[in-house]
Amino acid sequence: MVIMPDGSGSTQRIVVVEDTESAALLQRILAAAGYEDVRVPAVPMEAETLLETADPDLVVLDLQLPGVDGFAMLERVVSTGVPTLVLTADDTPTTRRRALGLGARDFVTKPLDRVEVLLRVGNLLQTRRLQRALEDRNQDLQRWVRARTADLEDARRETLERLAMAAEYRDDDTQQHTKRVGRTAALLAKQLGLSAETVDHLRYAAPLHDVGKIGIPDAVWLKPGALTDAERAMLEQHTEIGGRILAGSRSPILRLAEQIARTHHERFDGTGYPHQLEGDAIPLAGRITAVADVFDVLAHPRPHKKAWPLEQAIEEIVNQAGRQFDPEVVAAFRRLDGRSLLDPVEDPSALRRAA
Ligand SMILES: [Fe+2]
Repeated sequence: MVIMPDGSGSTQRIVVVEDTESAALLQRILAAAGYEDVRVPAVPMEAETLLETADPDLVVLDLQLPGVDGFAMLERVVSTGVPTLVLTADDTPTTRRRALGLGARDFVTKPLDRVEVLLRVGNLLQTRRLQRALEDRNQDLQRWVRARTADLEDARRETLERLAMAAEYRDDDTQQHTKRVGRTAALLAKQLGLSAETVDHLRYAAPLHDVGKIGIPDAVWLKPGALTDAERAMLEQHTEIGGRILAGSRSPILRLAEQIARTHHERFDGTGYPHQLEGDAIPLAGRITAVADVFDVLAHPRPHKKAWPLEQAIEEIVNQAGRQFDPEVVAAFRRLDGRSLLDPVEDPSALRRAA
């Protein structure tokens, strides 16, 4: 075993692609110098297989082997990132330039000089060792960055959940309404064939649809009876207030949440608020959340109303296709299992903590 300057022994693997006689000589030279793991294909034609399975640290390759295109093999070895020491009896500049151009790291001309071979092999293996150490370090760093990024993303999502929770606290201290709206919106988005990323973003953005209600006085938001015109106008402000609370973020989830807060009370027929947008002029996220929100309100009890029976709540959504709601979103809604939409939503934060 070769003892390296850092005190470690070399277990690095060398593959020698050479004719039988020279390979035996090289093996003896390398073994005498302490390189224990030197592999030689039985015949040069089997070199490809050996190179694939051996994971070498260095390939010593003769460019002029009978029946083997040395330059083509050099190109393949170089493409794997393994340093290659080229042996050649042809010491012309043309051959050298061609081999270097293909990525050969170094040359030894034949007949072989023992000292020269060992110096060049030692240099290349040391470089290889540093290269491997750098790759390992990079992989560690990448793992670390991935883990920290996941933590950060987790914290951001949890903050969004807690913002929705804060907004909802006055009239639903279980926050199940907002969570169910998030889940139903995500299911609708999936039914509509939207990307997995959009589905995921909607799951976290839709629960913030009513965040603007923290700017509406209780006397209006929680008023049991009919609202005056002035009170209704004030209540409708929750869309714009929510939009302002969420505006200007770089986060795609928050940007989506802003869009939803501003448009979830628009109606497909153009008679909603605050801007009487019509049809496709209403962002799809707003059209989706409108269905998820209204269905959930209908199907659950509120302080001043009973829950509608499931079938009746579904029927109301269907009846509003083309009026309050986008018919395509309603069609997607009909494909969902209505009963499962009533199930409580597990706390995603608790799930994350348990994970
Ligand atoms: Fe709302």
